[in-house]
Order: sequence, then C-alpha cells, then structure tokens
Amino acid sequence: MADQAKLSRHNPYTNHVFHRVIISALVLLLSCTAATSDRQPPLISQLAKDPETSLYTISVKADKSPLLLDLAGSLVWSTCPPSSAHSTVPCESDTCAVAKQQSSHRCRYVDGGRFWENREPGPSWCACAARPLNPVTGQCSTGDLTSLTMKANTTNGTMELRPEESFAVVGACAPGRLLGSLPAGAAGVAGLSRRSLSLPSQLVAQRGFGRKFSLCLPAFATFGDTPVYLPTPERGFIDYTTSIPYTPLLTNPANAGGYYIPVKGISASWHGADAAAALPRGALDIDVRTGRGGVVLSTATPYTVMRPDVFRAFAKAFDHAIIRGKVSFMERVPATKPFELCYNGAFPMLKRAGLDMPYIKLELGDGATRNWTLFNDNYMVPVDGAMCVGILPMGPDGMPVDGEPAVVIGGKQLENNLLVFDLEKQVLGFSMLLSVQLSGCRSSYFFRN
Ligand SMILES: *[C@@H]1O[C@H](CO)[C@@H](O)[C@H](O)[C@H]1NC(C)=O
Ligand SMILES: *[C@@H]1O[C@H](CO)[C@@H](O)[C@H](O)[C@H]1NC(C)=O
Ligand SMILES: *[C@@H]1O[C@H](CO)[C@@H](O)[C@H](O)[C@H]1NC(C)=O
Repeated sequence: MADQAKLSRHNPYTNHVFHRVIISALVLLLSCTAATSDRQPPLISQLAKDPETSLYTISVKADKSPLLLDLAGSLVWSTCPPSSAHSTVPCESDTCAVAKQQSSHRCRYVDGGRFWENREPGPSWCACAARPLNPVTGQCSTGDLTSLTMKANTTNGTMELRPEESFAVVGACAPGRLLGSLPAGAAGVAGLSRRSLSLPSQLVAQRGFGRKFSLCLPAFATFGDTPVYLPTPERGFIDYTTSIPYTPLLTNPANAGGYYIPVKGISASWHGADAAAALPRGALDIDVRTGRGGVVLSTATPYTVMRPDVFRAFAKAFDHAIIRGKVSFMERVPATKPFELCYNGAFPMLKRAGLDMPYIKLELGDGATRNWTLFNDNYMVPVDGAMCVGILPMGPDGMPVDGEPAVVIGGKQLENNLLVFDLEKQVLGFSMLLSVQLSGCRSSYFFRN
C-alpha cells in the first residue's frame, strides 16, 4: 500500500492506480466479510499425559490413535497405510512448495533413503514428499504428504460438548521407526507451530474461526476464537480468556514457527528472601543476527531446559532463596538424574498448592501485563523422598527446539495453566497455576469422565 502510494505521486496514471487500489481493497473487504459469515464453530480436543514419558498426546485423529502434542512442530504426521492405499499430493502443487520450505534443518534420518525403495517409477514419483520430525529424538524421515482424517467436538467454551465434526488436514506419512521415544500408542505428531501446515494454521484456513488456540495441559486444547469457562471459588464459571494476563509473543526469523516470550530476568523468592539470577544484560534476548537465544515454549520436553550459563545463574539464585528463606529444616541433597537441584526437609508447601512455597518469577518485558510466576506444582518434582526442581541444564544433545534458544519452557511449567495463543494480536494469555486459584484444567466442563 505504501509503495503504491509512493509510486502514484510520480506517476501520470495516479488516478488510475488509486482506483485500482481502492477496488482491490473493496474486493478484499468483501471476501473478508464473506469469510466471517462462513465462520465454522470452534473445536475442542482431549489431551492426555503419558505417565512413562511425561509427554502429552492429543486425540484428534478420526481413528482415535493419539498424536504427540508438539507446540513447536511444523507438520502433522502419522504412520500410514502402504503407499498404494493412501492419497498423495502432487509435487508441483503450492502445498508441496510450502512443505519443502518448512523442513527443519537439523535432524538425523531413520530411513537413510529406503523410502524410495520399492516405488514404481512414473506418476508416483511425482508424489510430494515431506520431512516429518520426531522432536523427542531429533530424528526425521521422508514420507508422502497425504490427507489425514480428523475428528473433534465443536464447542462454545462452556457446558456440554457440541456435535463432533470430521475434517481433513494435510499431513506426512512416516515409517513406524520414527515413533521411537514417543508415548506408547502414539501414531505420530501434531505440530502446533506458526507454520502454515501446522494443525491450528490449517484449521484457521479451513474454518475461518479466528487465529486463536488454547492449551490447558493435560486436559484439553481448543481451536478457534472461543471463550474457555473454568471454575472460580467466588464467581462460579467464568471466561478465563478475558481475565488472564497477556504477554506479547515474539518471532525469531531463524525459527519462524516458534512461540517466543520476552523474558528479561529470572528470580526466586521465599519468605522475603529474594534472589535474582545474575545474568548479563540481554542474556535471554533473541540475537536477531544469528537467531540464537530467546525463551521459547515447547510441549515436547517434559521440563524446562536452560543454556548452561543461564542454568548456573538460576540454580544459584534458587538455592540462595530456599536456604535463606526456609522456615523449617531443609537441606540440599545429592541430585537424582536428570535433576540437578534437590532438597530434603519439611516443605510446608506440600500440603496445599499456593499456601507457602518458594516461587520462581519470569520477569516479562515488552508490555506484558504481569510477570509469570511459577508456583510449586509447576516446578517441584518428588523423587525418592526429596523434592527436585524440574528445571534442567541443556543436555549433551543441545536444546530440544531449533535455533539454539537460551531457555525452552517445558511441559511441567506449562501444566495446569490456561494458555491462549492469539495470533491475530500476537499475544499469549497465561493464567499461571490454576490450582493456586482453586481452579484447574480438569475441573472444566469438558471431558470430565
Ligand atoms: C466428543 O465428546 C464426547 C463426550 O465427552 C466424547 O465421548 C467423544 O470422544 C468426543 N469426540 C472426539 C472426537 O473427541
Ligand atoms: C453454550 O451452549 C450452552 C448450551 O449448550 C448454553 O447454555 C450456553 O449459554 C452457551 N454459552 C455461550 C457462552 O454461548
Ligand atoms: C516484573 O518484575 C520486575 C522486577 O521485580 C518489576 O520491575 C516489573 O514491574 C514487573 N512487571 C510487571 C508487569 O509486573
């Protein structure tokens, strides 16, 4: 638009150009209005937590086989019937071009080219192949793009679930070998990233129901612009999406699918003993030149993972706050792997969430309406009679998310929080620990039994 305006100032055909601009704007407006009236109802899917891996699955496939929930994933993929029995996508289609752009750079192949064996030369060679990724092992494979049949309940955010609807999304086929380290029974992965072949992006394009989705781990996910009613002690069920704090969502050009938040500092507090992690200024920022750094969310890692320098500063601050602020006997004990920080002693906080406990604060900038406080249930893990902090230093394989972030906020920290991803406004709503507010993802109206 700006270019058009600049052009027209020096152009003898000014009026002509302006008319064209106005007409195309009108056409656009009309098509937007049409899309709004075609808006289909929002959807809701049941989530589950796998006790073995502490990872989450979503029940959205029509055949009811669960898919790993991968907030940072760019594709939907699943094991498929043999190549003769599934549909394919032409290799010269737009969808195929998009799939090719989204292949993640860093992965190890499980199939070493065997995908092309036993394929008939000829038309089938023009079937579009994508690169499905297992975010837990970092392995990938080659697989046909196909159409996957899905099913979900419709919802208005409250009361009983509405009728089920079936729909199809474009997804990749993958060999069974790619399922390693996923929850038992999982048939693939549902990627929820910003990329255009993710599950929410495809649903928005098909259903015109608003660029929004929400997660309430480990209970449910909603897709589309819908209220989410949760119980409160005083006011009964209220729409949480309008009452929770919001933070801007940041983008990282080097990892365009990721959901980054503007964390500026990390501190720990207990009984007035506050300790800020001693991080150099900007230690958590995204380096716009290299794409490294930043704080990104992931549901495919059970615990938050920090770059070693960030972890050391955090661990020191946490230890300081917990030892100085203690109200009863408590001591640091040898850690049980994979944890690094474990304590023994009488934790009054174990009796009830939200009463008396150390807390960790993620200080947010860029106009966030609140800092993000992590209460006990969002970081403490009982292990062999001790309590360990479910926040870990980066392992030998690096970060579980592309782009070398400074911190990956994982499942333990996101659980029992309502998270509203509003991609229209580029903000994330975060309720913080619902049990502290005497609410909960499992006490919604949905999927109670
Ligand atoms: C829709 O909701 C009903 C009631 O909870 C449930 O039994 C059914 O499995 C749901 N359907 C889908 C596709 O999740
Ligand atoms: C949602 O639907 C239920 C009936 O299924 C109705 O009682 C309720 O008022 C509706 N809520 C909203 C927010 O539309
Ligand atoms: C977050 O915490 C910092 C440090 O305590 C404080 O200066 C800032 O005002 C807080 N931000 C919000 C939005 O409350």
